[in-house]
Amino acid sequence: MTDLSASPFLAACRGEEPSRVPVWFMRQAGRSLPEYREIRGSGSILDAIADADLSTEITLQPVRRYDVDAAILFSDIVVPAWAVGFGIDVVPGVGPTAEKPFRSRDDLSRLRPMDPEADTPFVTQTVRNLVAELDVPVIGFAGAPFTVASYLIEGKPSKNYAMTKAMMHAEPQLFFDLLDTLADLAITSLRSQIEAGASAMQLFDSWAGALSPAEYRTHVLPHSAKVMAGVADLGVPRIHFGVGTGELLEPMSTVGVEVMGVDWRVPLDEARRRIGPGIGVQGNLDPARVFAGREVALAGTRDVLAANGGELGHIFNLGHGVWPELDPDVLKAVVDVVHTEGLTSPA
Ligand code: CP3
Repeated sequence: MTDLSASPFLAACRGEEPSRVPVWFMRQAGRSLPEYREIRGSGSILDAIADADLSTEITLQPVRRYDVDAAILFSDIVVPAWAVGFGIDVVPGVGPTAEKPFRSRDDLSRLRPMDPEADTPFVTQTVRNLVAELDVPVIGFAGAPFTVASYLIEGKPSKNYAMTKAMMHAEPQLFFDLLDTLADLAITSLRSQIEAGASAMQLFDSWAGALSPAEYRTHVLPHSAKVMAGVADLGVPRIHFGVGTGELLEPMSTVGVEVMGVDWRVPLDEARRRIGPGIGVQGNLDPARVFAGREVALAGTRDVLAANGGELGHIFNLGHGVWPELDPDVLKAVVDVVHTEGLTSPA
């Protein structure tokens, strides 16, 4: 096991001075990489995740290629619900799909508590493999209760979250009980990843941006706060991320976080004003700028660094995950500019 005390990523998470501005990319593993497409196979991504040797290799691929400062475990936010037998799959090109969506109180029995050793031994094995091989930190993750609930309730990716919000407003107690159950699953999964050696964690509430601040505070915040409190004693930095959550940055930063993920819609200086002092920021280059080619991507990279203004507690990332269409060579150029031009102290 490597000594991670000099990790720029962990230093930035703690608001300390890193040796360089750290960078990693959400979805850095995956279809944008030819080496991923070569070994991934054609089945469900869940089969690849259940194979610890394959998940280990897939997690390592972007670290080798990009010289990023952290590795994110190759897994998916629906793995705990899948592992306890809810009945959910991830259809290639579509996303998480449940044949029998969550519709009534009876469906709670399809979400029994998870036993990581019996239900997801491949996840802990992958983390242990990674910690043994890597000299950068491994980031563990879970889906936040709201975002996972949206897949279980809709049964498929959704544009307007109609069924999810209908349940939230019309059956608030059932919605509460579902999110509370999903919070327990997330805690169990995160604890198993951290105990296996993950040295930071990210809670993905990717679709919380569908909610108003009042809806978020009433129906969602308590459950995400429960997840963060449920891992607090383990002492690893907690990153919280959502898309289209500019209006929610303030409440989302109060659930127990060391670092707040920011998408590309809010510049980092404005994001810091909304979040307040003492919390780091992660982001926030628009993946569309990477798609536009090297010149636009590098100009965007410099804009992100400038918006941060050399403040401590910045982890460079995209504003959302890497698209399958993005050019790995452009992403590598982004990493190099962050590392060589990123300021580590206020200019
Ligand atoms: O490199 C990494 O970031 C680690 C791996 C990772 C995956 N999913 C692998 C994956 C992570 C962190 C996730 C989290 C995840 N899964 C989120 C939160 C992050 C986000 O994007 O907001 C969400 C919403 C999901 C649900 C999900 N899983 C979707 C929407 C999809 C895309 C469907 C598709 O095929 O386009 C998946 C499948 C998935 N998960 C893929 C990968 C690499 C692509 C499919 C494949 O290779 O078969």
